[in-house]
This record gives sequence, structure tokens and C-alpha cells, in this order.
Amino acid sequence: MGQFTRRQLLLGGGALLGATYMPILMRGVSAAEIARPQYMIRADKNENPYGPSRVALQAISEAMDLTNKYGVGRRRELVKLVADINNVPADHVILSSGSGEILKTGGLIASWDKGSIVCADPTYHDLVRYAGHAGSEIIRVPVDEHMAGDLDAMRKAIRADTAMVYLVNPNNPTPTIFNHDELRDFVLEVSKERMVFVDEAYFEYVEDPRYGTLIDLVAEGHRNIIVSRTASKIHGLAGLRVGFGFAHPDHIQRIRQLKTGANNVLGIEAAYASYQDMDFQDFSRRKNRESMAIVEAMFEELGVRYVKSPTNFTFFETGIPVEELNAELREHGIASGRPFPPFTTWSRISMAKPEEMRFYVQTFKKLFANRIMDSAT
Ligand SMILES: Cc1ncc(COP(=O)(O)O)c(C=O)c1O
Repeated sequence: MGQFTRRQLLLGGGALLGATYMPILMRGVSAAEIARPQYMIRADKNENPYGPSRVALQAISEAMDLTNKYGVGRRRELVKLVADINNVPADHVILSSGSGEILKTGGLIASWDKGSIVCADPTYHDLVRYAGHAGSEIIRVPVDEHMAGDLDAMRKAIRADTAMVYLVNPNNPTPTIFNHDELRDFVLEVSKERMVFVDEAYFEYVEDPRYGTLIDLVAEGHRNIIVSRTASKIHGLAGLRVGFGFAHPDHIQRIRQLKTGANNVLGIEAAYASYQDMDFQDFSRRKNRESMAIVEAMFEELGVRYVKSPTNFTFFETGIPVEELNAELREHGIASGRPFPPFTTWSRISMAKPEEMRFYVQTFKKLFANRIMDSAT
């Protein structure tokens, strides 16, 4: 990594990225009115609008020459690096094609054991949908009145045939976290008899002291726990498909036997660079906070209900059917999150760049403020 002057690149890069967009957004309009960008604002898929980092891009371009070969790239080094970052032995870590592959393989393990799966409702779909197709019954436990996963209700929903409990922390689409101590106790208890899968895709964004990873339980030798992480979110590598599973070596072996994807050299090299690039993660968190503050100010102004988010997306009530809302936003160059039943009048919005979120707020208010205010009175 010696040849990269990451700090300079990134600190300069942040200012540069802003400068690139401002002229497009502001061209020919008064300071009060932000012009529509000449591209679609991607506020629908919880991506990092700044990624990949300059360092990862450099690694990708240097790896281009390797793309005609099998089995090249710093795969082992990447596994060791991520293991070290998370204080877990390297034989407790497996690389995957996005964390989606670990999720699906986890679902398959539960189905293979002919067991049901307990999860929150709503939650992320990859694991449960795949396991459902493979024959598992899915027991969905509604989120509580704060839109958070309800551990007591989940405990009650567990049956003798339940092979797995799937917990997404922070959850998606409701960006809520579990209290770390309560989650730890729950997982230790439940994993005595069955698998617990903890999806930590948004781990790097969370700054709340009540939050914590459960990888340490894996490191301590607890057997029936799988934790997943991804390079798709704060690392901005969604298109290169890099994810990680953390589990006891016996389960790592089982995942290895069942998984069908593979990693490409560009993803491996990019992730190897990106996971060493703390400046880019700090920069991304800072920009994310800026974007979130812009959107939350609008929620407060309009008086809508929303879930205070520690992630790069948020969830708020509009009272307008999501398809209708999205169609209008799309006409104005904004892609916003799909419907998440049963909350079909709530909208999930991912944080794009602050200047893009200012345009979003301006557009949203123009299109919907009156309707929202009217329905509230
Ligand atoms: C909670 C959660 N887990 C996992 C994923 C899967 O991401 P990937 O397969 O890109 O790692 C996502 C993607 O949005 C997600 O929101």
C-alpha cells in the first residue's frame, strides 16, 4: 500500500467530488433553486455514492492484466486482513461473492436440515427468499412499535423444527439496531439448539455506542453462529461482489461445500486495498451524516414519522402509496426505494451525495409537502 498517498488523494478527492457536481446542479439557477442533475440520482439501493475509493480504483486498474488467469489475486491475504481487523482466526472466515452468497448458503443450510427460519418482518430478503424456494417455512415476526426487531416475540416464535434465526443488525428496510447486550444474550441462548445468522452489512456506518458486532462470539468458539459482512456498502464495491462469512471452521467447511459463486480478481484486489483505507471510510461516514441531516431536517419540517437511522438509508412515513410516490420522483430524476410491505406508505431513501439530497428534498417538498401536511390535519 506504500505507493498510495491515500490521505492526500481522499482529502483532495472529497473536495473534488463536490466540485464536480456543483456546477451541474447549480448551473443557471438562483442559489435558492437547485437544478435537476443530468443523471438519475440513485437513492434506492443503499450504495455508497463515492465508492470505490481512489485506492481501490488504483488496485483495480493494476489488476486488469490478471483477468485472463484463474486463481490469481491476494485472496488469502484478504481473508487474513479481514480476520485480523475483526480479531478472529483466518480459518473462521470465508470469502463470498457479495454477502448475498453467504446469506443464500446460510438459507440453504437451514433448508437442507429441513428446518423453519425465524426472522423479523420486514427484513432483508436474500436469505429467507432463497430458503423459502428451497423448501423452508419462514416464520416472520413483525417489528415492534419502534420498527425494531422484537427479540422476545422472536424467541416465542421459535419452534422445535426451527433450524435458524436470521437477524439483520442494523435491519433493512427499517434501519434499527439491536441493543448489543440483549442481542448477545439472545444469540447465546438460541444458538445452543439451532443456528443464528447475523447479517452486519451496514456495520461500518454505525456509530451508536449501544451497537456491536457478534463476530467476537464466533472468535470465542461459539459454534452455531454465522455473521456476514460486505464490501458492497461503505467500501462502495457492490458491483464487484465481495462479502465475508464468519463462523466456526466446521460451518465454514459446510458453507464452502454448498456455495456456488466465486470471487473475481478485481474484487479481491479492490477489497484488499479498500479494507486498509480508513480515510475513505471516515470520509464516507462524514458525507453520509451530512446527507442524513439534510433529509432529517425535512422530516422534522414536514412533521412526518421516521426511523432515526445509524445507516446510509432511512425509512419514513408519507401516507402515499410507494409506487405512486416513486413514479413521481422518477419523473424528476430520482430513484427511491421499492415498497416494503406491510409498510406500503413508507418510503426507504438511500443517502446519495449531500448536494443530491438537497435536490431530493427540494423535489420532495415541491411534489408532496402539501399532500402530507393536508393528510396530517
Ligand atoms: C441487510 C443486507 N444484507 C446483505 C445485503 C447484500 O449485499 P451484498 O450481496 O452486495 O453483499 C444487503 C444489500 O442491500 C443488505 O441490505
